[in-house]
Amino acid sequence: MSARVETLHAAGPARRETAAGWSSRTAFILAAAGSAVGLGNVWKFPYIAGEYGGGAFVLVYLACVALIGLPILVAEILVGRRGGASPIHGLRLLARSEGHRDGWQLIGWLGVLGAFLILSFYSVVAGWSLAYLGHAVGGGLAAASRTAEPAAAMEGLFSALLASPSLLLLCHTLMMAATVLVVSHGVRQGLERAVRWMVPGLFALLIGLVAWAGVATGHFGDALAFLFRPSFGALTGEAVLVALGHAFFTLSVGMTAMMAYGAALNRRTSIGAASVAIAGLDTLVALLAGLAIFPVVFANGLEPGSGPGLIFVTLPIAFSQIPGGLIAATLFFAFLAMAALTSTISLLEPAVQFLEGRGWGRRGAALATGAAVWLLGVGSLLSFNLWSGYTVMGRSFFELLDFVTANVLLPLGGLLVAVYAGRVLSRDAVCDELGLGDSPAFRLWRFMLRYVSPVGVAVVFAHNLL
Ligand code: PHE
Repeated sequence: MSARVETLHAAGPARRETAAGWSSRTAFILAAAGSAVGLGNVWKFPYIAGEYGGGAFVLVYLACVALIGLPILVAEILVGRRGGASPIHGLRLLARSEGHRDGWQLIGWLGVLGAFLILSFYSVVAGWSLAYLGHAVGGGLAAASRTAEPAAAMEGLFSALLASPSLLLLCHTLMMAATVLVVSHGVRQGLERAVRWMVPGLFALLIGLVAWAGVATGHFGDALAFLFRPSFGALTGEAVLVALGHAFFTLSVGMTAMMAYGAALNRRTSIGAASVAIAGLDTLVALLAGLAIFPVVFANGLEPGSGPGLIFVTLPIAFSQIPGGLIAATLFFAFLAMAALTSTISLLEPAVQFLEGRGWGRRGAALATGAAVWLLGVGSLLSFNLWSGYTVMGRSFFELLDFVTANVLLPLGGLLVAVYAGRVLSRDAVCDELGLGDSPAFRLWRFMLRYVSPVGVAVVFAHNLL
């Protein structure tokens, strides 16, 4: 390790920013897995797996996570810890310590901006799960299921939610307030305390739901076959690209969220092993979510490929037809809201760390960034109703933000992190930080990072833009 970096680690100005880092390796893994597990796993993965035909898509997705996402996840955490500061600051310090000129911190700006934009609309969708939790507890779902046409009534419930600025605003505000509250207490007192019970709770809930879906519906085998029996005839080029894009989103890479979490990680934890655990847990949750949702869908003869409405329309219809369904629905939407919250806090953290590095107090930084994100989110929620007439290239404000972040900022961020850790940082520096020595595992990781990941990302990136 170069002397300069050594100093940077021991007593660099930035170290103090995150003085109270994760208390243990487990805390870090829970937090990072909590960031990875979110709407991407429970809302998006099942519906895109449904749309793109199941088995073969799932297989490609798994390959993308393992071959491209995982190496970049390792890289991002590594860069965060070695930089030892907020993403933007850390990237600059590190590049300097390797004798590079300033400019690489642009990756940090891009990521912080991307996280900010994602959070603004992510919080709106997360709010839907709160609204549905309200419907489940308050009797809205039960009432809809008792009408003559339950399917139409459930669709009506979803469109009524989207048409109501005040309800959307309430839910979005609650979600952002919870996020700010957690983040303002800092890494150890806020984030760590929240994830310590939420992430295990989330797993328990999900396993319970899968068991219920298996027993109550009698269609567990169909769901297994749908998710794990690949039929490659149905696989399209677009499906491959969607799978790769989703691998990034679901692992939370490319948006400096994992970098910010890595900055608070102690030197004893092995980044490689932790990353495998994080990616493994994330994948497990996506597959379990599929195994909780599809038996219910098949038991009711519903369409797996019904799109973004799958869990808000299709699933409630299905829940209402099955014994114990309302209780399961309540648990499901509570689970979704928690999974979303452990992700939203990771999306706010990079910007807050940045302001802290500029001398802001944590509480003020969390409040100010949270308020700005909230305001932007209001634009997103209005684009479902009052502003639905305003579109750019046929896309509403919400759709535009989703498109730009998923198809431009995420792949670009991932690509740049791969280039930074694979080519800007010296081999010695990354080897030292990973702590695997010059082993085959290290060499394989670096090869994937330098050659396989960038090419994979570049292909998606080019395809999505053209
Ligand atoms: N990984 C989160 C999910 O699957 C979303 C996310 C993306 C969080 C990027 C942080 C950064 O829902």
